[in-house]
Amino acid sequence: MTSDLRASAGPARRVGEALPPQERDAGERMDAEELRACQLDRLRATLRHAYEHVEFYRRKFDEAGVRPEDCRTLGDLAQFPFTTKADLRSQYPFGMFAVPTSEVRRIHASSGTTGRPTVVGYTERDIATWSDVVARSIRAAGGRPGHKVHVSYGYGLFTGGLGAHYGAERLGCTVIPASGGMTARQVRIIQDFEPEIIMITPSYMLTLLDEFERQGVDPRSTSLRAGIFGAEPWTEEMRREIEERFDIHAVDIYGLSEVMGPGVASECVETKDGLHVWEDHFYPEIVDPVTGATMRDGEQGEIVFTSLTKEAMPVIRYRTRDLTRLLPGTARSFRRMEKVTGRCDDMIILRGVNVFPSQIEEIVLRVPGVAPHFQLHLTRRNRLDHMTVRVEARPGTGEEARKAAADLITRQVRDGIGIGVEVAVVDPGTLERSVGKIRRVVDRRETAS
Ligand code: DLL
Repeated sequence: MTSDLRASAGPARRVGEALPPQERDAGERMDAEELRACQLDRLRATLRHAYEHVEFYRRKFDEAGVRPEDCRTLGDLAQFPFTTKADLRSQYPFGMFAVPTSEVRRIHASSGTTGRPTVVGYTERDIATWSDVVARSIRAAGGRPGHKVHVSYGYGLFTGGLGAHYGAERLGCTVIPASGGMTARQVRIIQDFEPEIIMITPSYMLTLLDEFERQGVDPRSTSLRAGIFGAEPWTEEMRREIEERFDIHAVDIYGLSEVMGPGVASECVETKDGLHVWEDHFYPEIVDPVTGATMRDGEQGEIVFTSLTKEAMPVIRYRTRDLTRLLPGTARSFRRMEKVTGRCDDMIILRGVNVFPSQIEEIVLRVPGVAPHFQLHLTRRNRLDHMTVRVEARPGTGEEARKAAADLITRQVRDGIGIGVEVAVVDPGTLERSVGKIRRVVDRRETAS
């Protein structure tokens, strides 16, 4: 290839512009009616595949008195039983596979902080489907063939690194497989290799920000034009912080290993108004997290997914525990899911009030004098739960400004969320930094009295 040709194959448009309809892939071009017909076909095939090849699903369907052929409309899916993380664990390691292991090309697993990890498998075609949806996500973020994509999601059993990697290659990008960690080297590589796109957790992006500043490099001066952030909840306030500090577009990507990995849903850079669910491959429903009752679009609840094209490990009505709502499409005709507020499991119940770490993030990031680094410490004193918000001061913030920031956070948490908290503004650089998914909550309620 001559250098001229290479140049002409490079990025044609600026990041941030909408993808013209003619450049969307076939799935993205379907209108609502075509999409529903395609979903129903794929759903029926998936139910049959699961029933015929996975003992677990056969038993569950039989117990519930439903057969795959009972699914005649998309709404009929609600008669089928849910699948939970505990179900997947009970089939450890390969009991949920619908194909012989000799046809499984790849295995991933969740970290499994409690109990056994959940194991997931992919056939060759599953890997191709996954690459396609991640390529679609990168394109929605403004990535184009010829761009360089720096991947800082961890490589390994975690789906982030390899999922992003295959998607970027599929799109025709040059991948820089940095993985997580060795932060000083990441900053050097970004300067030397000049990627346009970075794929990373939002919390690790903040760790990179510190490192840019430590090395005396202006983070706004790099070649980066867009970041694709996911694997953990993050707020609009965090988007603003990252966009301003790096002078890039920041978009959200969602996914979970049980359903596929990154690329189940993703934001479009031209609207940044929630994540379009790639509905031709993953069918979403919203249910009441307590009763499991189906909820309507627009109502807030737990998002549940059924895979429509997976071969190795189809999932039927998988309970994600993630809280969000479904909204109509904007930049694409697929429905959107609102930014995930948090997981049911991450909800802190403090003296009867439900609190998500993301609500504290919204407040902390609006307060002057403090950095976007915070941790929530839970303790029990005299049988009452207490929360201390530990937040770092920005460099150069004096005693008085720190006290004013602490007072403001306390007040806003009390008025906005309705709970009393202590706020400790600590020195810059003293809180634990993330290299992947951040740990926001330190719960010492079991041990303390
Ligand atoms: O975190 C897959 C992924 C990798 C997604 C890289 C995006 C980017 P798991 O380790 O199985 O898979 O964790 C899945 O992470 O149920 C959510 O609770 C949370 N999560 C993932 N993406 C987002 C997001 C990957 N954009 C769990 N916003 C999910 C909020 C997210 N939470």
